[in-house]
Amino acid sequence: MLRRVSIPLQFFFDVFNTVVPFLDPNRLSELRKISRMKKMSTIAIGAIINECVREMPRDACYLNIGTWYGYSLFAGMVGNASRRCIGIDSFEQFGHPKVECLRRFEELRSDRHEFHVSDWRQYMAKHASEVGVFFYDADHSEDCQYESLLSCHPFIVDGGIVIVDDANWTGPRRATERFLRLHSEYEVLLDVATYCNCHPTFWNGLMILRKKPAHVPVHSSHAYRP
Ligand SMILES: C[S@@+](CC[C@H](N)C(=O)[O-])C[C@H]1O[C@@H](n2cnc3c(N)ncnc32)[C@H](O)[C@@H]1O
Repeated sequence: MLRRVSIPLQFFFDVFNTVVPFLDPNRLSELRKISRMKKMSTIAIGAIINECVREMPRDACYLNIGTWYGYSLFAGMVGNASRRCIGIDSFEQFGHPKVECLRRFEELRSDRHEFHVSDWRQYMAKHASEVGVFFYDADHSEDCQYESLLSCHPFIVDGGIVIVDDANWTGPRRATERFLRLHSEYEVLLDVATYCNCHPTFWNGLMILRKKPAHVPVHSSHAYRP
């Protein structure tokens, strides 16, 4: 059992204690570099984001609402220069690290990567893109989390991935369960709780949903004919 470590160690501890067999060595090395930054997440979650972004359809985007210093966005960007990645943060919380986040973003970005300093609702009202990976990590009250899921749902492509972190808390969990009751087209790929918040494995609990791929139409030769 791993228990919480002090804040300065926390940002490194997971990096030295996590094996990621499914990422190729170059990609993993890039991810390790950025994973030492301040983050409310872990390299295990970053690796899952990175792989989901790599696998998403070319026309779809990774939409990350709530970046703080940028880790959850950068985890999708590294090694994925050809994948559209969009970060949104109003920088209204946790020390307002806008300057640090945008500086690092400029260092890591490709021309397929965007950052919008904005309230997420204002962004969503003006923009419509196909979303391959959705990660909302802002206000985790049940109502806000639920609203974010409902707002993004129409844009999520078939086979698209929804990442819900802080799933140990009742807000994100209840919102996700409510959403799943309404939308049976999603399946749960992962639902893991952690011993405590800030855990070096899956931080504060993680759920991963997938919008099921569309039904394959019945071949005309098998179709019912009276
Ligand atoms: C928990 S932190 C994100 C941590 C980050 N995902 C990481 O990997 O380290 C939450 C962020 O959500 C942002 N936020 C809160 N409410 C927001 C809103 N209405 N619109 C956009 N961003 C918001 C905050 O400014 C804060 O930076």
